[in-house]
Amino acid sequence: MALDEYQSVNRDNRDARVPIHLGSDEYKIQKFVDDPKHISDVVQFDLDRNELGDVAGKSLLHLQCHIGHDTLSWARRGADVTGVDFSEPAIEACKNLSAKSGTPGEILVADVYDSPQVLPDRQFDIVYTGVGAIC
Ligand SMILES: C[S@@+](CC[C@H](N)C(=O)[O-])C[C@H]1O[C@@H](n2cnc3c(N)ncnc32)[C@H](O)[C@@H]1O
Repeated sequence: MALDEYQSVNRDNRDARVPIHLGSDEYKIQKFVDDPKHISDVVQFDLDRNELGDVAGKSLLHLQCHIGHDTLSWARRGADVTGVDFSEPAIEACKNLSAKSGTPGEILVADVYDSPQVLPDRQFDIVYTGVGAIC
């Protein structure tokens, strides 16, 4: 399969997961909205939280941010976050979550390989990706 075709199949698959994840017990989206202290408690995020340590005051770019509950969890830990994902429904969900939960973030639709073009001349203290993005 050519790379373009693979990317298209992959994106369709990721688009289809958005409504499933928005309603899933693992992501606890409503809790994220209702409780301003709630942060992601998926297993990998717990590990990443320990590894990255204190992110307060740091700029953090989350590549392949999906629906953004991890991205916005870093924001709740004090980071100035930017999230990038090529799934439009995922980014729309992420923007909604940011607005509904009052958790700020800069959220962009882009292929990860186009990040330097959509974020020209930007630098970040931390460039992060999470569970499922690297298998
Ligand atoms: C497994 S999900 C990440 C899940 C996230 N760690 C979480 O727990 O919410 C992988 C994400 O990577 C995105 N993705 C895959 N390939 C991409 C690419 N080339 N550019 C941008 N995003 C991509 C998908 O749309 C999907 O949202």
